[in-house]
Amino acid sequence: MSFRLQPPAPARPNRCQLFGPGSRPAIFAKMAASAADVINLDLEDSVAPSDKDIARANVIEAMSGVDWGTKTLSVRINGLDTPWWYRDVVDLLEKGGERLDLIMIPKVGCAEDLYAVDALVTAVERAMGRKKPIGFEVIIESAAGISHVEEIAKGSPRLQAMSLGAADFAASMGMQTTGIGGTQENYYMLREGAKSWSDPWHWAQAAIVAACRTHGILPVDGPFGDFSDDEGFRAQALRSATLGMVGKWAIHPKQVTLANEIFTPSDAAVAEAREILAAMDAAKARGEGATVYKGRLVDIASIKQAEVIVRQAELIAG
Ligand code: COA
Ligand code: MG
Repeated sequence: MSFRLQPPAPARPNRCQLFGPGSRPAIFAKMAASAADVINLDLEDSVAPSDKDIARANVIEAMSGVDWGTKTLSVRINGLDTPWWYRDVVDLLEKGGERLDLIMIPKVGCAEDLYAVDALVTAVERAMGRKKPIGFEVIIESAAGISHVEEIAKGSPRLQAMSLGAADFAASMGMQTTGIGGTQENYYMLREGAKSWSDPWHWAQAAIVAACRTHGILPVDGPFGDFSDDEGFRAQALRSATLGMVGKWAIHPKQVTLANEIFTPSDAAVAEAREILAAMDAAKARGEGATVYKGRLVDIASIKQAEVIVRQAELIAG
């Protein structure tokens, strides 16, 4: 480790973030009854411009009108390039009571975007005498966002989580696709006439995970648009989990179970991690820093790898 230690990310489960448009209050109670760890009520791109005011009013009413249980409750505000975002922040904090946990800021492009929202949130919190400080989550979904990902990750002490938003990201990057995440037909390698598909989201995900882990933020995979394709969702989510992301969005309730399953370490993975820890305890007792487990090397680094899995399982078990 560097002399500067890696800070831990917030210790709360974030396996699935279920989204719903603020203009569709009929689904709020269903969202609350779901198995998602985080609820994201949306004021941004799933709400038509003509519905912005009514959606904001619906969401404010639902803060206290719906029983959200122990879920992390987040509202996605409008982007900083719109005329709506300041009203979203002010009304949520002035009229929404104390239940709200997070504000999600979309399309962040630089650390100053967080600074601006932080300044406004801080002023309203003080004016209202709010006891529970609001946290932030951001979406990296533009060329600027990914270019400045590390400064964004340290952009505000309020920041808890960072998601990759595949659709806007693809548009901003000029990518030739209308797919929201997942395998892209034209992104393949060719060897002796046989195609194998590569992952165009991989590098952005890895950049997000590195920035997040450096600064103690939860890295999250965003939406998978084709909610009829469970296997596609599963494949994308498994890749994200393997890279270090802790969860994924659901844009349809059927994706919640899939996300929870993939981002909860399996019993077998936890059992193996515990066996590695036990093998290393035994090695340490013999004065050894490395030993053999199931025919392969395990050493002091393996302890840290195994602890990631055990800690995540314990966190989720509560
Ligand atoms: N959360 C909770 N419940 C939801 C839901 C959601 N996001 N979306 C749909 N449902 C409910 C429906 O009300 C329906 O309930 P019922 O069985 O009691 O009638 C059930 O789940 C099945 O819904 P279905 O008919 O398959 O979907 P739909 O056509 O009503 O809605 C979407 C599909 C994609 C438009 C809708 O899921 C949606 O708005 N998703 C979120 C979009 C969003 O927030 N985007 C921003 C982030 S990318
Ligand atoms: Mg977006």
